[in-house]
Amino acid sequence: MTPKQIVSELDRYIIGQFQAKKAVAIALRNRYRRSKLTVTDREEITPKNIILKGPTGVGKTEIARRLAKLVKAPFLKVEATKYTEVGYVGRDVESMIRDLVEVSIRLVKDERFKEVETRAFEKAVDRLSEIMLKKADGLPEGISKIDLRNELSKHNLDQMQVEISVADNPKPVELQPGVGEINLGSIFGDILPKKTKKRTVTVAEALKIFASEESEKLIDLDSVETEAVHRAENDGIIFIDEMDKIAGKSSQNGPDVSREGVQRDILPIVEGCTVSTKYGNVKTDYILFIASGAFHVSKVSDLIPELQGRFPVLVDLDSLGVNDFVKILTVPANAITDQYKKLLAVDNIDLQFTDDGIREIANVAFDQNNTLEDIGARRLQSIMEHIVEDISYDIDEEGEKKVILIDKAYVENNFRTESRNLKKYVL
Ligand SMILES: Nc1ncnc2c1ncn2[C@@H]1O[C@H](COP(=O)(O)OP(=O)(O)OP(=O)(O)O)[C@@H](O)[C@H]1O
Ligand SMILES: [Mg+2]
Repeated sequence: MTPKQIVSELDRYIIGQFQAKKAVAIALRNRYRRSKLTVTDREEITPKNIILKGPTGVGKTEIARRLAKLVKAPFLKVEATKYTEVGYVGRDVESMIRDLVEVSIRLVKDERFKEVETRAFEKAVDRLSEIMLKKADGLPEGISKIDLRNELSKHNLDQMQVEISVADNPKPVELQPGVGEINLGSIFGDILPKKTKKRTVTVAEALKIFASEESEKLIDLDSVETEAVHRAENDGIIFIDEMDKIAGKSSQNGPDVSREGVQRDILPIVEGCTVSTKYGNVKTDYILFIASGAFHVSKVSDLIPELQGRFPVLVDLDSLGVNDFVKILTVPANAITDQYKKLLAVDNIDLQFTDDGIREIANVAFDQNNTLEDIGARRLQSIMEHIVEDISYDIDEEGEKKVILIDKAYVENNFRTESRNLKKYVL
């Protein structure tokens, strides 16, 4: 996708914030450009990492979430706060690289699975027909194997019950909360005989189970792993959210040594180093990092300088105004007003928003952000919840269809007066 296409795709969900979208889109396109160069040229070109900075609730995390769905590249979103300095109990920052590789493995595996899908399904049909012919409960007398396979492939028998044996995977055991889990089965898997258990399932389900077992056999895991590591190294994107929470000098905030420690630990990873994973070594030089945070209490300049230097692109996100709120309420696919409409439609309530009603909600949100605390678009959620609270509560068991119009007057009555009163108290 061209940068413009990426931006317009993001436009479907995120209102405004053009600069942030643009920066991200350019960075993505640069990955592609780099991939077209000769190997020697490629080595010299490292990604221009980005910091997205802006008040709370203006779309930073939302951009990351939408981006993740958009890009076909291995994409990992992490919170900076979940890491602790090496040597302390907790997750070390290198684990983000290991997690990225896992994402990449899943991505490549899924692609390979798609390639072998038809063959895997044929094999599954084959296996299941063998089993069903041996125990022909409910099958027509003397049905031939070919006929049975035919019926299975056409999904004509999907609802029938069959007994099959499936692998009995032991549940992973969590050793220490938060640190990670270990799958005893995968350690002893090669030593212990594979355990199976009998299960009665529908034909549809049996085909699914067999097809997934067969596709595992059809793909070459070694090449999946090589490819996945390669993709993580060259196309990987790590979005580090809440970066501001690890900024701030330890002296200002008491004995908070670990924050700066985490920054120091992140440094080599962003700078380019080699992290060993269970799929082999991963070079981090070409992974794109996007950091984000409000940087309200601590500033970008509170990050250790070496780290700042590794994020050359700094984008400020705008705080949101009334017009933005109007759009956020209505434009995005599955916008918040649509969500409430759909929810209440279940109880036979037809919620209708007029244009001036929407605008009034936006006005109230903007007012409250100014007088109380600026929490950005999250304010809309609390206001909407307040507006529909009574509607939501006052339903009858077998209510007949009710149309409720949310117009300016409705919002004012249900809300404005109260927020004015509230304002009085605040002032
Ligand atoms: N520009 C926007 N366009 C559409 N929706 C938005 C926008 N900004 C915020 N929202 C909505 O508000 C919610 C909160 O936004 P988001 O999680 O992106 O905040 P944030 O910028 O990451 O804030 P924080 O600094 O507190 O993490 C999102 O779920 C999203 O639905
Ligand atoms: Mg956020």
